[in-house]
Amino acid sequence: MGELIAILSGKGGTGKTSVCAGLAEALALQDKTVLCIDCDVGLRNLDIALGLSQIGTLSFQDICSGNYTLDQAARHSVYPGLSFLTAPVNCTPDEVDKEAFGEMLQQARQLFDYVLLDAPAGIEVGFQLSAAYADRVILVTSADPAAIRDASRASDVLEAMGKKNVRMILNRVNEKMISAMGITVDDIMDQSGLPLLGLVPEDENVPLAAAFRQPLLGYEKKGAAAACKRIAKRIQGNFVPVKLK
Ligand SMILES: Nc1ncnc2c1ncn2[C@@H]1O[C@H](COP(=O)(O)OP(=O)(O)O)[C@@H](O)[C@H]1O
Ligand SMILES: [Mg+2]
Repeated sequence: MGELIAILSGKGGTGKTSVCAGLAEALALQDKTVLCIDCDVGLRNLDIALGLSQIGTLSFQDICSGNYTLDQAARHSVYPGLSFLTAPVNCTPDEVDKEAFGEMLQQARQLFDYVLLDAPAGIEVGFQLSAAYADRVILVTSADPAAIRDASRASDVLEAMGKKNVRMILNRVNEKMISAMGITVDDIMDQSGLPLLGLVPEDENVPLAAAFRQPLLGYEKKGAAAACKRIAKRIQGNFVPVKLK
């Protein structure tokens, strides 16, 4: 039975989509089968981060409607173990049938080692939908105080939902900036109240890979790509020391 992982934040722009793509690619590279689902209804962009924007892809709504099956989800040309469903653009998050969505995820769990959900910003319907069925939640934040406060608020909402397996990825880490702010990674963990799953450095290759429509892991070997590979190993239960470089 596969594991369902929701990638959430609270604040927009913290890097959920980029981290989701990097982790999905890393897990597939490490011989796991992965289904990545863009849950940002109306504002999808995980296809760009995965380097899949040029091909026609089914949306999760196509599967929920019963017109298509999960084995018809788009396959990544570089990582054959990685399948992808985009978010529908012609409906609102309120219009997603929660029961059908849950049934689709249940089926996905049977077929894939990992199912990754890239959530929209905010703590409303899209957040709730992405978190509802998750076995594990990853909250992505940056060192920005507003992002940390929103991550902490998101963590409270998750606690109220009964979610226990919640960890944080601190993204866009810039050591100089953090030390200029007079804080440490430990301070950020204290403020958010969340255990750390990993650190991802600020890395210009993240937007560059997206701009060139390339998967991040194919585009670079160090920086954010290497960080995603380390985190993917931790997700599989391996001990990998937390480091930035
Ligand atoms: N580690 C990183 N280093 C540099 N830029 C990043 C990093 N992570 C994300 N970005 C950039 O930040 C912006 C927002 O990222 P995105 O993944 O779309 O965030 P979200 O899904 O949380 O809204 C994008 O332009 C992306 O390229
Ligand atoms: Mg996003």
